[in-house]
Amino acid sequence: MVEETVLRPADFIAPLFVVDGKGAPEEIRSMPGVFRLNISDLVKECRALARLGVPAVALFPKLDARLKDPEGTRALDEDTLVLRAVRAVKKALPELTVITDVALDPYTSHGHDGVLTPAGDDVANDRTVGILREMAVLQARAGVDFVAPSDMMDGRVGAIRGALDAAGFTDTGILAYSAKYNSAYYGPFRDAVGSAQAAGTRLLSKATYQMNPANRREAVAEVRLDDAEGADIVMVKPAGMYLDIIRDVREATRKPVAAYQISGEYAQIHAAARLGWLDLARCRHESLIAIKRAGADLILTYFAKDMAAALR
Ligand code: PBG
Repeated sequence: MVEETVLRPADFIAPLFVVDGKGAPEEIRSMPGVFRLNISDLVKECRALARLGVPAVALFPKLDARLKDPEGTRALDEDTLVLRAVRAVKKALPELTVITDVALDPYTSHGHDGVLTPAGDDVANDRTVGILREMAVLQARAGVDFVAPSDMMDGRVGAIRGALDAAGFTDTGILAYSAKYNSAYYGPFRDAVGSAQAAGTRLLSKATYQMNPANRREAVAEVRLDDAEGADIVMVKPAGMYLDIIRDVREATRKPVAAYQISGEYAQIHAAARLGWLDLARCRHESLIAIKRAGADLILTYFAKDMAAALR
């Protein structure tokens, strides 16, 4: 009776990886139990999630390296993998909320979320925003319920809102990655979409556009900007190491707050459990309870399916 925080399957958004072709599911080495799925297996997985009461999925494409270039050209192709996946999922499961990332990293040969300056030492913010606007409109046309700018360019939420409205997609929402930190814990995700290998042996630093993990007040400033620019949901990422930020953001906005329990958080729990050092089910539950207790309304987590099944 006095328990303050309760997890439900409806709290979760499941991130899913999609690949082209008809191959068998490919397990991601650093993310046990997470697979890259072809489109037909993806639809099956979405159906299983919906049956378990998970209301939403976030789709991430893994492109063949040969399709990537410095400009991320394939992001603006009407027939690009993720858009075909969206159309297939929405056709089979119209009630399932489908979310897609607006960022260039799955498409660029250098693995950055935007196109680069002529000197190649930073992302070109405004030129990237122009591309993201078009990308968001293509995603809306394919049928997504929310676009999720994860790129951290300045001013992109307002620009995307304007582009969506101008194209008639006034009902397509924006889930903004508002306080996204430059985290070392994204490593397994970059394996999953191949954006780490894309950068070759060079260490991929997104420090010029993602936030400094040392900063707390800046997160609130970023959230206020995205809120004012028209974000429908604001997000903090990563989640588990940033519970203070989730709480600050919860108190700074009246919008729903999402948190992304990222690949490295998932990998850590699995790795320790494999060694027999931690109990997987209990740590999974505790990690998610902590994120919700901190103030998250919605949680993106690779544990979505297992948690929903466990909660039943
Ligand atoms: C990039 C993006 C990243 C994630 C989601 N979208 C990683 C990055 O910034 O390189 C990370 C998710 C995870 O680690 O689970 N636009």
